[in-house]
Formats: sequence, C-alpha cells, structure tokens
Amino acid sequence: MYSGLVHAHSGLRWIALILLVVAVIVSIGKWQGRSGYTDGNRKLYLFTLIAVHTQLIIGLVLYFISPKVNFSLMSDKIYRFYTVEHTTGMLIAIILITIGYSRSKRATDPVTKQRLVGIFYGIGLLLILASIPWPFRIPGAGWF
Ligand code: HEM
Repeated sequence: MYSGLVHAHSGLRWIALILLVVAVIVSIGKWQGRSGYTDGNRKLYLFTLIAVHTQLIIGLVLYFISPKVNFSLMSDKIYRFYTVEHTTGMLIAIILITIGYSRSKRATDPVTKQRLVGIFYGIGLLLILASIPWPFRIPGAGWF
C-alpha cells in the first residue's frame, strides 16, 4: 500500500500542477481583461481544488506511514525536508487555494471572482513549486 500511495502522490503532482497553471493563467487573464466568469471557469477552479485536496489526503496518510518522516533524524536534510518543509509548505499552499476558491465562490462581481482565484491560486502554485521534492534538489526523489 505504501509504494502505491507514493506513486499516486508523485504522479498526481503533474495533474495538480497543470490544472493550477491553467487556472492561474485563465483567472489572471480574465481579471486583467475584465471579462466574464463562465461555468467552464467554475469547473476548472473546482477540479483544481479537488486535485490539491486529493494530494492533501494522500500526503496525510503518507505522513504517518512514510519512513522519510522521522522527528528524531531532523539533523538530516532529507528527513527534515519531508517531516517539516514539504508538509508545512504544502499545507499553507492548500489552505490559500481553499480560501481563494471559497471567497471567489461567495463574490458576486465576475472580475472580483477571477481576481481572488488569480491571487490565491497564484501564491499557492509558487509555494507548491518551491515545496516539491524535485530530483535535482532532493536525492532519491523521482519525476513521476
Ligand atoms: C499539492 C500538494 C502536494 C504535492 C504536489 C506533493 C508532491 C510530492 C512529491 C512529488 C513527493 C515525492 C514522491 C517521490 O519520491 O517520488 C512527495 C512526497 C511526500 N509527500 Fe507530498 N505533495 C503534496 C502535499 C503533501 C502534503 C499536504 C503532505 C502531508 C500532509 C505530504 C506528505 C508527503 C510525504 C510524507 C512524502 C514522502 C513519501 C515517501 O517517499 O515516503 N505531501 N510529495
């Protein structure tokens, strides 16, 4: 089960990243262009939220079963990365994306709806990019 979850969590990063990049480009474009808010936009932002929440659920399970999470080995860069840095960065990013989605949903003005997604999803995307264990940064991490 552990290996299956790591593979799912690792591969799903690409779906979450692609959806986030498209959502940020669309929302900022429509915010700046002062154009409307469509049902397609709503679905895109919702699927993006679902993708990062799925990562959150798998990540939480991994946090309790992964051998890379170990509070007694915090002097080691890799253990500290997974135990503290990856998890904290991702939790903050997912909280921001969730706030952006719900505030945008409650807003009535189409430009405000797009602006809230653009800002909150944009900051979330940057935090996620910075917190991913990229193979060139964290030894042993994979691309997929
Ligand atoms: C959008 C959010 C997230 C993304 C894109 C993401 C991505 C990744 C990636 C790419 C890996 C490396 C897998 C590999 O070695 O091939 C990983 C590992 C891990 N993630 Fe996340 N993650 C996210 C959120 C979280 C959260 C919220 C938690 C904890 C609550 C978490 C806990 C872990 C743990 C414990 C590992 C180490 C698994 C292992 O190899 O034993 N992740 N994550």
